[in-house]
Amino acid sequence: MTKKVFVRSYGCQMNVYDAARMSDILAAEGYGEAAGADEADLVVLNTCHIREKAAEKVYSELGRLRRLKDERAAAGHETRIVVAGCVAQAEGREILRRAPGVDAVVGPQSYHRLPELLRAVERGDKPVDTDLPELAKFDHLPEPSAASLRARGVSAFLTVQEGCDKFCSFCVVPYTRGAEISRPVDAIVAEAERLAAAGIREITAIGQNVNAYHGSGPDGRPWSLARLLERLAAIPGIARLRYTTSHPNDMGDDLVAAHRHLPALMPYLHLPVQSGSDRILAAMNRRHRADDYRRLVDRIRAARPGIALSSDFIVGFPGETEADFGETLRLAAAVGFAAAFSFKYSARPGTPAADKADQVPEAVRTERLARLQEQLEADRRRFNAATVGRTVEILVEKPGRHPGQLAGKSPYLQAVQFDGQAEIGAVVPVRITGCGPNSLFAEPTGGVRPAPALDAAA
Ligand code: 5AD
Ligand code: SF4
Repeated sequence: MTKKVFVRSYGCQMNVYDAARMSDILAAEGYGEAAGADEADLVVLNTCHIREKAAEKVYSELGRLRRLKDERAAAGHETRIVVAGCVAQAEGREILRRAPGVDAVVGPQSYHRLPELLRAVERGDKPVDTDLPELAKFDHLPEPSAASLRARGVSAFLTVQEGCDKFCSFCVVPYTRGAEISRPVDAIVAEAERLAAAGIREITAIGQNVNAYHGSGPDGRPWSLARLLERLAAIPGIARLRYTTSHPNDMGDDLVAAHRHLPALMPYLHLPVQSGSDRILAAMNRRHRADDYRRLVDRIRAARPGIALSSDFIVGFPGETEADFGETLRLAAAVGFAAAFSFKYSARPGTPAADKADQVPEAVRTERLARLQEQLEADRRRFNAATVGRTVEILVEKPGRHPGQLAGKSPYLQAVQFDGQAEIGAVVPVRITGCGPNSLFAEPTGGVRPAPALDAAA
């Protein structure tokens, strides 16, 4: 009987990518995929450390898994538990102390060594591997099979950059993911070509600071993200490109211009601002002012009118007054975001802001978050409502909710349901006819661009 693994991922897109790559590594070791933890011989939790709530979730899950491990042991089945991801990196050996059911701990830059770690577990060890070896992981990852790529659908994340040197004063990423590194262009192109050959139509280039990308090109010189995107757009079969997450200060002229001249680059940009108050932005070490952000938005909109902008916000950063918060509401209203993620400030051990004296009371943070979210939600609905009546292209992702329906994404990353027939992976022009709370409705207008025929050998 083949062994089975269940990989559960929390947090950001980088973790989604890493979880898929861990599945590839374990598939090469003979593990099939389990439908749930209860039927898995190996459970991998790919964890997130960005806020306290995310990190604490891991420990409650580990409590549940320990009980499951005991139950399975009573029935004669062994279960191994591995903690991976950013909690693994940040807490290392401490996890073994707090959660005795855990067999191994592996950080986000060393999971290519999972097979060795599992062999150490078989020898009775409880290995902890939280090295931060630059780029080594990418050279050691097995190529995923075409079948496993196909199972991922028509849209895939591709890590092009990792880590961060910005050191925003609230953020754990520079500590958990390490220094900023960019993968070489050739390696990224080869991976994108494999994705395209397996039927993937949309690639989202990901990195904690993706627009700081400066990987070495085939000419031996550093390439910018804009140049990389142009190269990826030339790969046959790739219809759409996106990238995330970007820092406002790394939004170079060529990247802004790419939104004007690169048709495959979708008109959607996630550009976290965090706060609209200059005082708080300075305390956050963001290194730009609110007006710099507004001007940047103007430049981007001049290059790509109608682009959907999304952002991240933190409310209740230490020292944030009602006036500072008002600046955040004002900036959000002035920009008019199509989508947004907003969070209460969470003090993270080891970050400079965690030691500040003027922490904002929980009740104030809760109340400000509710006000901000109400405003952001109204903006999101307004953006969606404004697309009704327009004709846009949908990338078909899966069957829709009802028979005869298809579901896909608009260029603006909106979920769209429509009646019609087309294969998964086709690009279908539709007219948006209506707008629900979480998805839009549409009817095809004709002129489908079919998905390219797959190479039978892929
Ligand atoms: N508290 C709250 N939110 C945080 N983020 C990062 N660190 C913290 C923190 N300590 C948010 C930021 C970032 C997003 C991924 O998570 O808004 O852009
Ligand atoms: Fe964290 Fe700031 Fe780096 Fe983003 S830019 S990962 S918020 S330190």
